[in-house]
Amino acid sequence: MKGVILAGGNGTRLSPFTKIINKHLLPVGPYPMIYWSIMKLESSGIKDILIITHQDHLKDFKTVLKNGEDLGVNITYKIQPYAGGIAHGLLYAKDFIKKEKFIFMLGDNIFEDSLLPYVKNFINQDEGAKILLKNVEDPERYGIATVNKITNQITSIVEKPQNSSSNLCVTGIYMYDDGVFGYIDHLKTSARGELEITDINNIYISKGKLSYEVLQGWWIDAGTHNSLFIANQLVYKELNKLRTDDNE
Ligand code: DAU
Repeated sequence: MKGVILAGGNGTRLSPFTKIINKHLLPVGPYPMIYWSIMKLESSGIKDILIITHQDHLKDFKTVLKNGEDLGVNITYKIQPYAGGIAHGLLYAKDFIKKEKFIFMLGDNIFEDSLLPYVKNFINQDEGAKILLKNVEDPERYGIATVNKITNQITSIVEKPQNSSSNLCVTGIYMYDDGVFGYIDHLKTSARGELEITDINNIYISKGKLSYEVLQGWWIDAGTHNSLFIANQLVYKELNKLRTDDNE
């Protein structure tokens, strides 16, 4: 399977740093943020990775990551000309993916779980898509899924709901079949002027083709100053634990 990481956008919530550097190159622990997505893909056996970003930042990504050799992966780059939404960005992966299932990740998501069991389950899924969820305390910041307790199916996803009875956040870890590109082609721009990934996931729900699993370990969207700080704390805690385990 191939992997696609979205690493464009305006990063306005991390201004003023994002006036001079792409959000996904800011430090999380001893590495640029995007290293963590790449390492999660690499350790689950996904070596062919496409990074989608804005033209202004391409040179910086290439300086840091080159062709991915240092991280044990093959990186290809593609430009999203403007921040037209997550689904808009994904469209630029069409030629890279061709006719395969793939994993799509938002480059500002940092998490503890290994992707391997989820990827294996998706490979065994006949068709459709799979998303990974996580319980959060601030549902108004995310896409939130409602699950029918009897059927155990997601019934709807709402982007940044003001009042939600569910706390199940849709993380930025998505798995799709190649049918996703056809759905994006027919998508309408949302009220905030974007092609929304939530609209795509709702299409899969309407076709009965969206499965889900809930992440076991910690997960964070490092897209704000506060969450970037917490992401750093979580990563250093993890690294220190590994060091202690090694010394025992
Ligand atoms: O982190 C999980 C959440 O990510 C989901 O729960 C939401 O459903 C989903 O819409 C998204 O919400 P955010 O408000 O966090 O999206 P944001 O605009 O911060 O963009 C997420 C990532 O995608 C970030 O790494 C930047 C990148 N991006 C975003 C846009 C809009 C692009 O590369 N291009 C874009 O046009």
